[in-house]
Amino acid sequence: MKVIALISILFVPFSSCANILAIVPTPAFSHQSAFWPLWKELSLRGNQVTLLTTDPIGNRSLSNLTEHNFHDVYKHKEEINGLMDKGSLPTLISALSRLVKNIVTTFFESDAVRDLLKNNSSKKFDLVVVEDLFPEFLVFGQVYKCPTILIHSTDTLTSVHRAMGNSYHPVVYSEKYYACRGNLNTTFWDRLGSTLHYAITWFFRNFYISPMRHTVLQKYMGPEVPTIHRLMSTADLLLLNIHPMLQGAKLIGQNTISFGGGVHLREPKPLPENIKNFLEKASNGVIYFSLGTTVSSSQLNDVKKKNIIETFRQLPYNVLWKYEQDDLQNIPENIMIIKWAPQQDILRHPNVRLLITQGGQQSIEEALLNGIPMVVLPFEVDQIPNAKKIECEGLGKRVNHKPYLSQKEFKSAIEEVIGNRSIYHKRVKEFAKLLLDEPVPGVEKAIWWMEYVIRHKGAKHLRNPIVDIPLYQYLMLDVIASVFIVLLFLVTMVFLISRKLKRFVRSLMKSGKLKTK
Ligand SMILES: *[C@@H]1O[C@H](CO)[C@@H](O)[C@H](O)[C@H]1NC(C)=O
Ligand SMILES: *[C@@H]1O[C@H](CO)[C@@H](O)[C@H](O)[C@H]1NC(C)=O
Ligand SMILES: *[C@@H]1O[C@H](CO)[C@@H](O)[C@H](O)[C@H]1NC(C)=O
Ligand SMILES: *[C@@H]1O[C@H](CO)[C@@H](O)[C@H](O)[C@H]1NC(C)=O
Ligand SMILES: *[C@@H]1O[C@H](CO)[C@@H](O)[C@H](O)[C@H]1NC(C)=O
Ligand SMILES: *[C@@H]1O[C@H](CO)[C@@H](O)[C@H](O)[C@H]1NC(C)=O
Repeated sequence: MKVIALISILFVPFSSCANILAIVPTPAFSHQSAFWPLWKELSLRGNQVTLLTTDPIGNRSLSNLTEHNFHDVYKHKEEINGLMDKGSLPTLISALSRLVKNIVTTFFESDAVRDLLKNNSSKKFDLVVVEDLFPEFLVFGQVYKCPTILIHSTDTLTSVHRAMGNSYHPVVYSEKYYACRGNLNTTFWDRLGSTLHYAITWFFRNFYISPMRHTVLQKYMGPEVPTIHRLMSTADLLLLNIHPMLQGAKLIGQNTISFGGGVHLREPKPLPENIKNFLEKASNGVIYFSLGTTVSSSQLNDVKKKNIIETFRQLPYNVLWKYEQDDLQNIPENIMIIKWAPQQDILRHPNVRLLITQGGQQSIEEALLNGIPMVVLPFEVDQIPNAKKIECEGLGKRVNHKPYLSQKEFKSAIEEVIGNRSIYHKRVKEFAKLLLDEPVPGVEKAIWWMEYVIRHKGAKHLRNPIVDIPLYQYLMLDVIASVFIVLLFLVTMVFLISRKLKRFVRSLMKSGKLKTK
């Protein structure tokens, strides 16, 4: 009886009624909408959630959720528009670091953040959740003396994995290439490239970006504020919207929780009439083409746009294209342009045969869970390994479009995938089954862990000891060196003794010989 009572207590949903502060500064819709179900669900369970975001949910009936709208910071992003397609690496790095600086400054100078910093003794928070691209906001954990969680809408940067004690081995977990189902088939140049990439990024981060960010933080929090790296290592937990089927099996510690697999999917809504008609009247099926929210189609160069239009003109399928401007000319009959797209509902429509995507994680999840194969035109960051994965898992094709998109290649990729639709569809379905086969839904898992941190006022007991020991100890350099020295000593001793012995025996034999004579 006692056992049953205990078990039933353990399974009653925990209602924490906690005060939670969440800060998600990245001006990108996919970075924000991935967490909407979390904030919504936390507030419905009776927690008071204060959210600083660039894209508020804006649902009045969520009365326990207070949102501060930072949509303004999108204007800082205009500077990097186009660089994703055309820019060189150094211009991209310096533009990105200016972007980060502008965003952090905007946040610290806003009324909402000033208020939060001023009223530190009257307000109380039980948990601070921070998007990990902006670890400076972990200072709120120190201001409110409460535990902190880092969170990310997909897999995170190597530097964050390192701060949490997860493996970031540049050969095994490369940011540059993808291991298809754990099959690491690399050349020496792959491994060298990945290691150099890691070293260069580390160098830039340590000696350029982090000090710059620390200076900005000092301006608002005083000279004594901990460095960015220090702050990062104070986080109690890292919550990642990842899944082994999507990011590959990884060596992560107990303080890193993966909760991915369709977390951002929402309830179906009816489609707008014009889109619905277009989808329904297409007898050969529809291709849906969207490059997501971070890279938009209108930023492509003119040659690419022309090649894309010409390719679509030659196809017997209708194409629904999410394109944000009015500047396209000579559009063929079979293309419909929409500036804004309810993507999840479009992909649910049975007439959609193919998704052409930039390869962002959320678009991939939406396609997979609706049984739709893909053609991927990857741009930067995680899209390149995502595209490789789609191809090597047989879920679609990837088309290289840098610097030039070949009509022939683009067309043949589309025809290959649509032409063998039943084969691709079957593989996508099988893959989706593995993606969804989890003990609890991702939202439940993420919320359980947030409430766990609140209940226990932190999770430092899950901290990986790796982060607190110097590199030489982790690599066992001292142990290996001492064993080596002892071995060397022993070998030398054996060598010396045996030489002595040999001489001794030889001299004995000599004297013996003398005697026998
Ligand atoms: C708000 O929180 C209270 C408990 O603090 C809870 O009873 C109520 O249902 C919540 N309301 C909404 C709309 O989330
Ligand atoms: C707002 O949230 C409530 C509670 O979950 C939900 O019933 C309602 O449909 C939402 N409204 C909109 C416009 O999404
Ligand atoms: C917090 O600070 C604001 C602005 O300084 C002030 O108007 C408000 O009354 C303060 N709230 C509390 C609870 O002290
Ligand atoms: C709390 O606010 C007071 C007054 O603004 C300030 O002096 C103090 O340093 C703040 N404490 C922390 C931990 O930030
Ligand atoms: C490894 O890659 C090479 C060339 O990229 C390929 O020929 C070979 O079949 C691959 N081996 C395995 C086991 O996948
Ligand atoms: C798709 O079909 C074509 C011909 O119909 C064939 O050559 C090709 O190998 C098929 N692709 C796959 C992945 O089965």
